Parts: sequence; structure tokens; C-alpha cells
Amino acid sequence: MAVERTLSIIKPDATRRNLTGKVNAKFEDAGLRIVAQKRVQLTKAQAEGFYAVHAARPFFGSLVDFMISGPVVVQVLEGEGAVLKNRDVMGATNPANAAEGTIRKEFAESIEANSVHGSDSAENAAIEIAYFFAQTEIVG
Ligand code: PPS
Repeated sequence: MAVERTLSIIKPDATRRNLTGKVNAKFEDAGLRIVAQKRVQLTKAQAEGFYAVHAARPFFGSLVDFMISGPVVVQVLEGEGAVLKNRDVMGATNPANAAEGTIRKEFAESIEANSVHGSDSAENAAIEIAYFFAQTEIVG
């Protein structure tokens, strides 16, 4: 399987509860390498731009408000099949449906405060990585 990269965000519910290290341990234990990482306070415009694909959905405003409610950690994860592997490690969007051992099962509070975001395809990963990182910030 090819080595690929995916965009990850540790969301405000997790940074607020000081879970960054525990979340990162899940990634590293699964064989994902953190090749870029920065802690940022998103602006409303940045969050709206990132989630623009969901702009018509009823939860859009609430999701944007949540994502700017505190700092996030944006990351690039690298590894074999990184996009799918990360989604396995994250677990289902709704923590009520997440499998044992996944980040969302262990840490998520709700479908909104669900601790992590991960790109859903290699194509979107490239777009999402470029949204937050210059190539020079990614050190593989
Ligand atoms: S769904 O419902 O399965 O289609 O969800 P999904 O497309 O995976 O969700 C996209 C992102 O929207 C968030 N989400 C919500 N936020 C607030 N309220 C509700 N009801 C809700 N449903 C979904 C969800 O956490 C996803 O965030 P990301 O960052 O993309 O994982």
C-alpha cells in the first residue's frame, strides 16, 4: 500500500481537556507519523472556509462556532494508507457508533464535539493539507 498523507485536526473539546498527547499516542501506535503539527486558534472565516462543503447543512453554524471555541491542533499524518488508517483510528463520526479503542469512542463528547477531524479521501487530504500548511512546514 502506498505511503500517503492526511489532514488531522484535534478539536477544541480535546485540547480543552488536555488530550493532545493521548490522541497523538493513538496515531503513533497505529503507525501514523506526525510530519507537521501546529496549535492554532481558527478564525470564523477559516472555519467557514474549511467546512464550506457543509455550508447548507443545518448544523453548519453550530459546527463553525464549536471549531472556534478554543484552540485546535492541525496536523499532517503520514503512513501506508494514511487516509483510511486514520479514519479507522478515529472511529465513527457519532461516538455512540464508534468502535472500542477508537479515539472517538474513548474521548468524544458528542457528534459535534467529537475530538478529531480526518480527511475522507486522498483527494480531499491534499486540499485540506494545503489549506493549513506550506510544503516547507511538512517534514517527513
Ligand atoms: S454525517 O452526519 O455522517 O453526514 O456527518 P459527516 O458528513 O461525517 O459530518 C461532517 C462534519 O460535521 C460534523 N457534524 C455535526 N456537527 C454538529 N452537529 C451535528 N448534528 C453534526 N453532524 C455532523 C461532524 O462532526 C463532521 O465533522 P468533521 O470535522 O468533518 O469530522
